Amino acid sequence: MTEKDFIPKPYSNSLESGSFTWSSPSNIALVKYWGKKEHQIPENPSISFTLDNCKTTTNLTFSKKSNHDGFSFEVFLDGEQKDDFKPKIETFFKRVEVYLPFLKDYHFTLETSNTFPHSSGIASSASGMSALALCLMSIEKSIIESDVTLNAPDSYRDERPFNNDYFIQKASFLARLGSGSACRSLEGGLVVWGKHDNIEGSSDLYGVKYPYEVHQNFKNYQDTILLVDKGEKQVSSTVGHNLMHGHPFAQQRFEQANKNLSDIISILKSGHLDKFIALVESEALTLHAMMMTSQPYFILMKPNTLEIINKIWSYRKASGSKICFTLDAGANVHVLYPESEAPQVLEFIQNELVAFCQNAQYICDVIGLGASKL
Ligand code: PMV
Repeated sequence: MTEKDFIPKPYSNSLESGSFTWSSPSNIALVKYWGKKEHQIPENPSISFTLDNCKTTTNLTFSKKSNHDGFSFEVFLDGEQKDDFKPKIETFFKRVEVYLPFLKDYHFTLETSNTFPHSSGIASSASGMSALALCLMSIEKSIIESDVTLNAPDSYRDERPFNNDYFIQKASFLARLGSGSACRSLEGGLVVWGKHDNIEGSSDLYGVKYPYEVHQNFKNYQDTILLVDKGEKQVSSTVGHNLMHGHPFAQQRFEQANKNLSDIISILKSGHLDKFIALVESEALTLHAMMMTSQPYFILMKPNTLEIINKIWSYRKASGSKICFTLDAGANVHVLYPESEAPQVLEFIQNELVAFCQNAQYICDVIGLGASKL
């Protein structure tokens, strides 16, 4: 697949109005994406667990407008109009217009809500952009299907099957143009984004479901997200990605991520949890090491992030638990552990880690099934 394969044949826009709702989860990367080329093409491949409880639900209502002058839309978060979200969506619409030529034909109302608090420091861009991309794909599908019914012989469907695989692939492709990691949020389990020679079907353009065997140890893997700092991040991930250009360790980092992705294939197959822990924690700390060694340098971890990491290490040493941590581009800690350890680990979290969370807040999550249409 190339970018061109996502440009549809002209359609006759026979739909007047409608509405679609999708719910899409967040995801947590095991091998991290940090650094990108133009058009949100990642510098290295990444793999993530799709989450279950941290989700965005988006309802997109559309009605035909008389002019084709520009994008027309309004955005609501939890029922409240949010004009400050508009520039990000306008940029997204501009980027994807060539792939969704109907965008200027309609007025859109976007109503969105998250299952996690907006100011929790949990990025809503992955769940939010994937939910929006899916709603837009539902519109395109309806337009094309109405075309097919009207002009059956020369249908788009005859040339390029608009099946579920294409739908998800294009939704992931569009989500990527909104926020890179969002392309890994559509399907459940493990998702790979970025071309890697050892992973069949992998692509820089969209996420694909991890295609190989995964050991029972990783079934229902748990992720308890400790909310260490709920404030605005001082440095956005867009700025962080850009600082990988000219970064003194960039090439080594991209090579390391490629190697870690190769290595995780056998770890996922064998269920070797010690190797999993070593790889995942190293990835998290390397991500933050890249931030600390860029120019200008910055630190997103907080003192309590380090307190939690040290507590996890002590607990693991003392108990033999297979608990580990990962971090995204912020201060919160994702505590990962097998389902079989859930009762003990939750007790440990409550007794020893909650004290380091802002307002004692944490979110219990688990590997999920991906996005769903409501
Ligand atoms: O998708 P973005 O641009 O918000 O970048 C996300 C980067 C990390 O969360 C740090 C890593 C990843 O692969 O998700």
